[in-house]
Amino acid sequence: MSETPKRILVTAALPYANGPIHLGHLAGAYLPSDIYVRYHRRCRHNILFICGSDEHGVPITIRADKEGVTPKDVVDRFHGMNTEAFARFGMSFDNYSRTSAAVHHVTASEFFLDFHQQGILKKKDEQQLYCEKDRMFLADRYVEGICPVCKHDSARGDQCEQCGPWLNGVELISPRGKLCGSTPIVRTTTHFYLPLGDFQQRLEQYVHSHTEWKENVKQYCESWFREGLQDRAVTRDLNWGVPVPLEGYPNKVLYVWFDAVLGYISSTKEWAVNAGTPEKWKEYWQDEGTKYVAFIGKDNVVFHCIVFPAMLMAKGGYILPDNVPANEFLNLEGGKFSKSRNNAIYLKDVLESFDPDQLRYTLACNLPETRDTDFYWKDFQAKNNSELADIYGNFVNRTLAFTERNFEGKVPPRGVLNNRDKEIVEYLKSVPGTVGALYDRYKFRDGTAEVMNLARAANKYFNDSEPWKTVKSDRAQCATTLNIALQIVRSLSILFSPVVPFSSERIWKMMNIDMPFSDAVWDDAGQLLLPEGHQISKPEIVFRKIEDAEIERELAKLGPPVDAAVPAPGVPSAPIKPIVGFEDFQKIDLRVAKIIACEPVPKSKKLLRLQVEIGGEKRQIVAGIAQQRSPEELIGKSVIVVANLAPATLMGVESQGMLLATHGDGEAFALLTVSNDVPSGSWIK
Ligand code: MF3
Ligand code: ZN
Repeated sequence: MSETPKRILVTAALPYANGPIHLGHLAGAYLPSDIYVRYHRRCRHNILFICGSDEHGVPITIRADKEGVTPKDVVDRFHGMNTEAFARFGMSFDNYSRTSAAVHHVTASEFFLDFHQQGILKKKDEQQLYCEKDRMFLADRYVEGICPVCKHDSARGDQCEQCGPWLNGVELISPRGKLCGSTPIVRTTTHFYLPLGDFQQRLEQYVHSHTEWKENVKQYCESWFREGLQDRAVTRDLNWGVPVPLEGYPNKVLYVWFDAVLGYISSTKEWAVNAGTPEKWKEYWQDEGTKYVAFIGKDNVVFHCIVFPAMLMAKGGYILPDNVPANEFLNLEGGKFSKSRNNAIYLKDVLESFDPDQLRYTLACNLPETRDTDFYWKDFQAKNNSELADIYGNFVNRTLAFTERNFEGKVPPRGVLNNRDKEIVEYLKSVPGTVGALYDRYKFRDGTAEVMNLARAANKYFNDSEPWKTVKSDRAQCATTLNIALQIVRSLSILFSPVVPFSSERIWKMMNIDMPFSDAVWDDAGQLLLPEGHQISKPEIVFRKIEDAEIERELAKLGPPVDAAVPAPGVPSAPIKPIVGFEDFQKIDLRVAKIIACEPVPKSKKLLRLQVEIGGEKRQIVAGIAQQRSPEELIGKSVIVVANLAPATLMGVESQGMLLATHGDGEAFALLTVSNDVPSGSWIK
């Protein structure tokens, strides 16, 4: 295990204050960071957890325009709403700031001015779309049109959602203003650019020094490096944001991403002031002894691994992120629900009907750590009922109730341990280390599963020990069993506390332990520390079960599935094609191929570029499976390919073949593979 750093700084991506927090947000950056921080606090490490609202940018002004209110109204509303929802969900930020705060404007202006004075920024005149009717430049999402790359008809001024690349509004075919729908004209405007290319070498060195980063994150960076880093405009023609802090540039503000990432620093400053130690933020940002971990969703990788580090390098004296754990996306109900109706589940709504811990646990089990995952309400119910309630809750309740009934609620003495007792005690000792090591490697799903495994083993221990029999036949053995079971209840409450903090605390209180729950230390969870004779309180049910009717109600809120006739698993979703002769079939050459390398196609959400070996021959294949499989899952697999398909070019990359996979999403998606024992090049007929 790695050495404990002197101090840890954790940031979670600042959510836009233009809408409510939804489950996708939680699964991306927030729940993982909160588990990580809560775990480290239990280890008594010096750790600071920073977040806040991202209150600038075009999504906010567009929303304000649409609602006929000011941007300030929008951000006030959502900052308030999200602050509250996060608190109820148990996000344990040390500070939750907002980028409209004065300290933030000062910080962002300072960085910009410093870059300007150092002569780092380039000033350029450029062509931009301008709407004569609305009398404004159409920055970013203020303009839509046809994508010049994939011809998707509603690409935005900053990017095409269909094929992904960064766009400039003037490249759009048939552009139209988002506000009034009229055709904009082209006008010249002046902007400041950050020449990322000047930092490329240092950025490559930095990223390459972190071989431990997640594969997806490294791959994204590599593809940016391969493309060559370009100058990036860091100002916009807008009047909502941090004003350009120079004379002569009215109606220009800093680009939202330029200021947003600096929000981490300004939020830390705000924390330091509130804590009465205004200079202390510097320790976290400027002392080499700090380990900085930035939790984000995968759509933010370039900003956190390239743009922000370049800015910190340019400024000098700042540390860089030590890791940038980026999660993939959480989709809803297999993505089968109508987009125009509710395609998101909002945190505040879930908390109306369910406990935060119910949501935290189910999300923790299903975090999109290595690939996109799906949230299903049925799954939410099943995980709650069959794991949280039936395993953890049941173990706690039966142990406490048995003690109450048979030992007057006092921890009975632990006598001589039999083999079963010894085994579970040994196992218990190992769990804090195992789980901690997983959390330290950002494997929150696996860590959570390990804790549940302990609860599962504890239930089995209880069953196999049959205390309801030994209470009559061998009271000393029965006492030992209950003593150990009670110790495990105490341990579980500590070990589960990063994931389900509220119920863990309730259990701790039921155990009637003197020490405040926040003082319980992680490693002590492996020890038997409950003293004999300790009086526990009356047990209550900790986890309630979720009824079918509750789930049906939630499903009904989502609106009807888009495709009402979603086929049952196993039923072909498309009619079977007309008969072909054997000779026709024989024209297709299917081969076993081994995947030797794999990486995302730059700027594409869906495509992966694979290098495969077919017998002695190497080929490049582009496959549209980036949303179903990550490169790291694919490398080393033996798959089936159509080896004689005419080559095609996808997003500028040549594909010399095609992989075979089922047509479907989620569970319905499968890649056809064979055992690695089958030599590559083998012919399939
Ligand atoms: N608001 C952005 C989003 O929701 C994230 C900003 S992260 C920060 O995608 F670093 F810029 F703050
Ligand atoms: Zn496109």
